[in-house]
Amino acid sequence: MSLGFDFRTPKTLPFKTCVYGFNNLIRGNPFVRRLKNHSLSSLQNFRLSRKRVGPISAVTTENDPIVKTNPFSFRSKNPNEINVLVVGSTGYIGKFVVKELVKRGFNVIAVARERSGIRGKNSKQDTSAELNGANVCFSDVTHLDSLQKSLENLTLPIDVVVSCLASRTGGIKDSWKIDYEATRNCLVAGRKFGASHFVLLSAICVQKPLLEFQRAKLKFEAELLKEAKEDDRFTYSIVRPTAFFKSLGGQVELVKDGKPYVMFGNGNLCACKPISEQDLASFIADCVLKNDKINQVLSIGGPGKALTPLEQGEMLFRLLGKEPKFIKVPIQIMDFAIGLLDFLVKIFPSMEDAAEFGKIGRYYAAESMLVLDPETGEYSADQTPSYGKDTLEEFFARVLREGMAGQELGEQMFL
Ligand SMILES: NC(=O)c1ccc[n+]([C@@H]2O[C@H](COP(=O)([O-])OP(=O)(O)OC[C@H]3O[C@@H](n4cnc5c(N)ncnc54)[C@H](OP(=O)(O)O)[C@@H]3O)[C@@H](O)[C@H]2O)c1
Repeated sequence: MSLGFDFRTPKTLPFKTCVYGFNNLIRGNPFVRRLKNHSLSSLQNFRLSRKRVGPISAVTTENDPIVKTNPFSFRSKNPNEINVLVVGSTGYIGKFVVKELVKRGFNVIAVARERSGIRGKNSKQDTSAELNGANVCFSDVTHLDSLQKSLENLTLPIDVVVSCLASRTGGIKDSWKIDYEATRNCLVAGRKFGASHFVLLSAICVQKPLLEFQRAKLKFEAELLKEAKEDDRFTYSIVRPTAFFKSLGGQVELVKDGKPYVMFGNGNLCACKPISEQDLASFIADCVLKNDKINQVLSIGGPGKALTPLEQGEMLFRLLGKEPKFIKVPIQIMDFAIGLLDFLVKIFPSMEDAAEFGKIGRYYAAESMLVLDPETGEYSADQTPSYGKDTLEEFFARVLREGMAGQELGEQMFL
């Protein structure tokens, strides 16, 4: 799911709420690396580690045979002997995670849909080309049986599952279907084929869960913790990042065209430590092998200080060499819109997603994407770890030069 807020003109995109970047109210808005991409049908050619040793307990469905393996053994292996299943491999972060794992020499099995990407724009060939270096397994994570059958056809053990799955819409049913059920299918199927470590891309905002997609993510996080508690040979790393660059770049082109920068309240309502796709992918890849990432919930931001929307706007005008021009929108406008949508949904239940999108927008207009100090109940920039090297300023400069290509948000009008 993409997160930010987009009010592009109806010609381009009508009204897009993106979650984390709500402070951007207005947006112009090798299996062996050597191996080339393969579809599932060509998997028999892969040289993957096939050794399965030792017992595991597992999240299983009834009648499922459990593959026996020594769950810790992969940690002592070389990356080229470790089989990593990546689900959500075609998303904004997933693509970079695949690239990073391939670069580090892991045997990557990237699960993808036959039509992937925003609005299913990518064919199987496009997807295979994009996930170059990984073995692309076309399957359906939303159906456990199909997924298990696909993995069975691989005739390979899995050591680690990395999930970058997310609802592309943020709608209520889709969030439960993807952020919970499909992700759980991947745990069940991964465990069946020997996985003893699960790396989950979650979100920092689940600390204060007021939205359905956050509840769905938290429910799955709880299952990971339970699994690790019940079987001390199973481990997890839960990664909760702050805002992605794509969610903050929506106003760059508008401001470049002379429009004001729009923000809620005084522009200080919410802050984040934005992180680039590459830096986050690198952090996620660290979670595959690093001992200090085992059984941890890892909040993570990008380099540098936390930035408010006001500071992001000022940065943009500075880069453009223009006098800052802001529009400050009262946050109460959001409350009014949410109240109206909540009323309408009682009459028209089919509007439940619209009402949810309003809440998502309100949440990200007011809540910081920083660690919530449990003692003070306040967001804390100091307690939010930084990782990586890519800065928002460099990103803004690049978008000013090259545009937002590759930084598109999700598929619905809101996300
Ligand atoms: N945006 C932010 O600022 C931000 C900040 C912190 C955390 N996060 C979290 O980061 C996570 C990933 O975000 P992202 O932007 O990389 O997500 P994304 O680009 O929307 O990618 C979602 C992935 O899930 C897959 N998927 C979605 N629906 C599916 C379905 N029905 N069947 C099979 N696969 C499906 C997509 O496959 P297709 O390509 O086939 O659609 C894609 O690979 C989310 O959990 C989000 O909450 C986001």
